[in-house]
Amino acid sequence: MEHSEQYIINGGTPLQGDVHIGGAKNAALGLLAAAIMTDDTVTIENLPDVRDINVLLSAIEGIGASVDRVNAHTVRICGKNISGLSVDYEYIKKIRASYYLLGALLGKYKKAEVALPGGCAIGARPIDLHLKGFRALGANVDISHGLMSAEAERLVGSHIYMDKVSVGATINVLMASALAEGKTVIENAAKEPHVVDVANLLNKMGANIRGAGTDVIRIQGVEKLHGTTYPVIPDQIEAGTFMFAAAATGGDITVRNVIPKHLEATTAKLLDIGCRIALYDDAIRVTAPSGRLRPTSVTTLPYPGFPTDMQPQMAVVLGIADGHSTVTESIFESRYKYVGELTRMGANIKVEGNIAMIDGVEKYSGAQVSAPDLRAGAALVIAGLQAEGQTVIDDIYYIERGYESFDEKLRALGAKIEKGRKNGSIKTEKDARFSA
Ligand code: EPZ
Repeated sequence: MEHSEQYIINGGTPLQGDVHIGGAKNAALGLLAAAIMTDDTVTIENLPDVRDINVLLSAIEGIGASVDRVNAHTVRICGKNISGLSVDYEYIKKIRASYYLLGALLGKYKKAEVALPGGCAIGARPIDLHLKGFRALGANVDISHGLMSAEAERLVGSHIYMDKVSVGATINVLMASALAEGKTVIENAAKEPHVVDVANLLNKMGANIRGAGTDVIRIQGVEKLHGTTYPVIPDQIEAGTFMFAAAATGGDITVRNVIPKHLEATTAKLLDIGCRIALYDDAIRVTAPSGRLRPTSVTTLPYPGFPTDMQPQMAVVLGIADGHSTVTESIFESRYKYVGELTRMGANIKVEGNIAMIDGVEKYSGAQVSAPDLRAGAALVIAGLQAEGQTVIDDIYYIERGYESFDEKLRALGAKIEKGRKNGSIKTEKDARFSA
């Protein structure tokens, strides 16, 4: 059973060397949905080979589109023979972003139905802004029997103000309006690199979208879209996770195949805590200081602010800094579920509301913990890499939703991490080294 897999980490080795960063999971989810909006073939390259991507590809096959996995990192999608406009709960319960198919199908066929996503480990996660956007384009949106359906005789461009900055709602409305009649303006749009990536793909497919990456996006609807080939942007969160792992372990690593501009908030915080940073065209080198890290304060914000998807990793690093730090989570209300687990590893963290107050300890101590969600799971791995002794992390299923070959990449940097099974033997031969 995949849920019984765990990481076994023997901490204390500084990470050293180069790591190649893959395509951004959250960008790829939007790109794959957008790819079905034409009857031609769209080839997506630099796709991360992670669980969430594979679930969305199954959902895309589930509505009748053809999905040809050329290799682990390239897929050809053809939306010509789409036969169903209804996306099953089976997919949405595994991955919320299946709801991107609502915007894509509504734009293309003016009709779609997707099971309602529920809350999740990091909070309630409403979808009101997605629905507001579809309604503004003239769709009738209905929520009943656990489904959200949207239908329009004609989709007509409109002026939409997003009350809150939302990556998902911006991408969903962007897709639907690309094939609406006339002009749509999205104000207070999300500026995340993945929003820009989806807009770039749609433009390559023949859409007319301007302003992606700023808070006003203007879309002039076109009649139809055509095929193309497009590579996913590098994953800034995967890169940031490795950079923080280097900081925590007193390491020195270079993340390769990144867009340094996307990592500005992360590198600024690494400098704050005393790391040295060298920037190259498509790589960043992080060198940890020889002594303790410095404490700092951080608040998560929409891009270009510090990403909420890096908050747990940052907190783990501040947990071993020399002094008092604060972390303020301003995007999701329940993103401190890992604090209990980290406390079991010796951290000194108190959470009040959306603020975590951290008094750094010198070292974590290895313990048995569980990954509560994707990013928090990755953060616990960082803690395990720094800890004295052995850490066993259960539920690594969550981590594998978004990190490709995480243990392999860490091993290549010198980490002592192996994959094993609960109550079972460790999986690879190398594990024998420290399985006793
Ligand atoms: C995306 O989620 C990412 N997921 C998340 O990454 C990321 O944490 C988040 O953006 C913030 O950067 C994908 O891209 C697939 P939002 P999304 O809509 O789009 C509120 C990870 O670990 N809101 O930008 O769902 C919402 O509650 C994941 O890879 C509404 O109020 O996030 C939140 O407070 C976890 N109404 C804020 O907006 C809505 O209709 C931002 O959420 C929609 C959102």
